[in-house]
Amino acid sequence: MRTINEEICCNKTRVFIGKNSLGIAAQEISHDSRVALIRQEAVNPSYFLTHIKNVGLEIVMKGGEDSKNIETVLHIINELYSKEFQRSDYLIALGGGALMDTVGLAAALYLRGLRLVNIPTTLLGMVDASIGGKTAVNFRNMKNVIGVFYQPSIVVIDLNFLETLPALEYVNGLAEVVKYAFTMDIELYEYLHSNAERVLNRDYAVLEDVISMSVRDKLSIVKIDPYELKRTRIVLNYGHTVGHAIETLSQLRVSHGRAVAVGMVYESCVGEMLGYHNHHVSEKLKEMLRLFELPTKLDEVGINREINTEVWRSVMARDKKVHRGKLVIPVLTDIGSWKPVEIVVDEFIEAFMRCV
Ligand SMILES: NC(=O)c1ccc[n+]([C@@H]2O[C@H](COP(=O)([O-])OP(=O)(O)OC[C@H]3O[C@@H](n4cnc5c(N)ncnc54)[C@H](O)[C@@H]3O)[C@@H](O)[C@H]2O)c1
Repeated sequence: MRTINEEICCNKTRVFIGKNSLGIAAQEISHDSRVALIRQEAVNPSYFLTHIKNVGLEIVMKGGEDSKNIETVLHIINELYSKEFQRSDYLIALGGGALMDTVGLAAALYLRGLRLVNIPTTLLGMVDASIGGKTAVNFRNMKNVIGVFYQPSIVVIDLNFLETLPALEYVNGLAEVVKYAFTMDIELYEYLHSNAERVLNRDYAVLEDVISMSVRDKLSIVKIDPYELKRTRIVLNYGHTVGHAIETLSQLRVSHGRAVAVGMVYESCVGEMLGYHNHHVSEKLKEMLRLFELPTKLDEVGINREINTEVWRSVMARDKKVHRGKLVIPVLTDIGSWKPVEIVVDEFIEAFMRCV
């Protein structure tokens, strides 16, 4: 088991990574405080409940994008208020990224913030959504329109929770791992390359390495730019400009990981077209995504390639990263390195349309 301690703009976050890490992390949760547990229906709570006893409120959610909305946040707040939860109590999110994003927002808003514990149960939640402090819910089919930055106090990445995760959900998480490898971590790239089969087979020793490397990569960025103000944190959005547009166009039916996988391929094509890296980088990216059984083309996620420029513009122009008609996007310069580039939205869309 590994622990990582990080201080992110005055908040201390303690991350526990490994099989059975919940038992050790549970000792950090003060028994004088109460626990509100918001958990994913698909996750059996018995393992959790053997370690955490002082649960004073339990809400079971279907999770996924359908409940990632402001009504769910208000429902959680209503229950916390009814049960007189205080700021020194804990709100524990046990589930996937969508559930943690929603519970995180409730934790930030209720009494201006109570202690948040993220216990991700999907690989994507483990390597990405549980850390970094972004909380949000969707609004009118657009991703993450309502949200705030709010750091969790404790993150428990216990590999036992992956046992019931369906294969399709598991590979979703690998899309974000590939993102870290290609944008900032050549060692991770090489490790994934040499251990691809063991990664796909959920070998726990290899997974602990892969998750630890991913968490360290993400925290190294978040620490420098916690509020995405310095053009550093944008690297975490690699593949997400196109990815979020795919999610919106599919009415959130294409999962986040698969949308990001396809998004990275088209964004690497744009980067290549603009002269930031050579064709070899784009080819290696596609090769690794295929190795992990992830899609690399729009039609593989059911998005019609005939969709016209105006439709793409209408979704991409609403991207949170757009400012006065311009976007600052992360582009690859090689495998494992990147730089921020400012580009006019129309130019980005024009280059993207040539890749479609
Ligand atoms: N806050 C962030 O920094 C951040 C980063 C990346 C993604 N996200 C968000 O995360 C969401 C995607 O997260 P996700 O990929 O975890 O998907 P998800 O939360 O939608 O969960 C996917 C599915 O897996 C099921 N599930 C979860 N854990 C399970 C388990 N252990 N066993 C069996 N089934 C299980 C759920 O019921 C759900 O149907 C998106 O909304 C995305 O925007 C947030």
